[in-house]
Amino acid sequence: MAELAIAGGRPVRAEPYPDWPHGDDEDVAAVEEVVRGGRWGGFPEPGPKAAAFEEAFAAYQGAEHGVLMANGTVTMEVALKALGIGWGDEVILPALTFAATVYAPIAAGAVPVVVDVTPDTWTIDPDLVEAAITPRTRAIMPVHLGHQMADMDRVMEIARAHDLAVVEDCAHAHGQRWIGKGAGCIGDFGSFSHQSSKIMTAGEGGTLLTNDDRLARLAHSIIDCGRPKDDAEAEYTFGANYRLSELSAALLTVAMGRFPEQQAQRATLGAIFEGLVADVPGVRVMPHDPRITRWSFYRYVLAIEPDAFAGRTNQVVCDALEAEGVGAWTGYEPMSHYDLFQPSLSRLPVAVEHADRLDPAKMSFPVAEAAGLRESVYVDENVFRSDRAGIEHAVEAIAKIQRHADELPEG
Ligand SMILES: Cc1ncc(COP(=O)(O)O)c(C=O)c1O
Repeated sequence: MAELAIAGGRPVRAEPYPDWPHGDDEDVAAVEEVVRGGRWGGFPEPGPKAAAFEEAFAAYQGAEHGVLMANGTVTMEVALKALGIGWGDEVILPALTFAATVYAPIAAGAVPVVVDVTPDTWTIDPDLVEAAITPRTRAIMPVHLGHQMADMDRVMEIARAHDLAVVEDCAHAHGQRWIGKGAGCIGDFGSFSHQSSKIMTAGEGGTLLTNDDRLARLAHSIIDCGRPKDDAEAEYTFGANYRLSELSAALLTVAMGRFPEQQAQRATLGAIFEGLVADVPGVRVMPHDPRITRWSFYRYVLAIEPDAFAGRTNQVVCDALEAEGVGAWTGYEPMSHYDLFQPSLSRLPVAVEHADRLDPAKMSFPVAEAAGLRESVYVDENVFRSDRAGIEHAVEAIAKIQRHADELPEG
């Protein structure tokens, strides 16, 4: 008789974890108010709901300004454009992230320079950032991945020493704080996604945070077809329509109101999970960086040792976890193997010297490759909005899969 649910046994967790996105009468009332009020669109930019959300989210995260727009991909493109980054410039980013991070510099006309991540956090390796700097380097884009944050002390030190801009990809990091400073408020810009899987969502949407008045004005202008945003109405830019509708902004104001309680619950249950799961054989818990002073995360990232799971990959372990009733995902493929990363189709006119940098077949990222292809298991966020029993079920599911790994399908 099989033990593992994937092989026909009984799942550890029978009842579902909390739903996501979570919506109730408050969301319906917020949308209804916009529908009945007649001001549906994002023009004139920002609309009242967008402005209210921008102010609330910027204050919560600790930035001077928020700029709400269509999604968390164009946010990064807009940030680079506002910083004046374009043709011939180079932007350094990590090998383990969503395709959007590497898309942004290409969309702005710059060359993405991809470097490997650290084994401890799977975020950008500052030593490799330093080694990749050339006279054309203009910016670094660290990604705060899963429940981690990139080493912002080192990133900022390198940026200052070489006069580089920093755009933080905070799609996973709403609520996170680094030595008291909010994610997205440390570099020149922080980019957040409000896509439906993200922890502050309206289905779609993205926010840029910045402490710089001029950069905020430029970002508002770029997303509003280049309309001037200065008092003299004179400062035109080159832009397009990346505005978000007021219906979505209304949902975000509700999501913002709920967020602090969700963050506290995630941090409490995340700490319990981390303590318990560290005892499961074959599971590597990454060191908890004490510089993260407010903890809030998209998904909790574990490393499995495939040998302790009968040589199976993270994909098989994630499938087995799903069967046990615990949502799990392998995370991103490394940039050298990523189906969504096809830079040659961008027709970016790169100089011969850059050709290798944009050819995935010539890229090698040993840490990101081991993580993305074999080791990384992202435990779904809804586990951390359940309760202690939900955490124990998730840990027991991982332990059970490890104990009975010989029942796992090949792969
Ligand atoms: C790390 C990362 N960056 C950027 C994005 C892009 O966000 P969006 O889907 O809102 O465009 C996502 C998520 O989708 C992401 O996970």
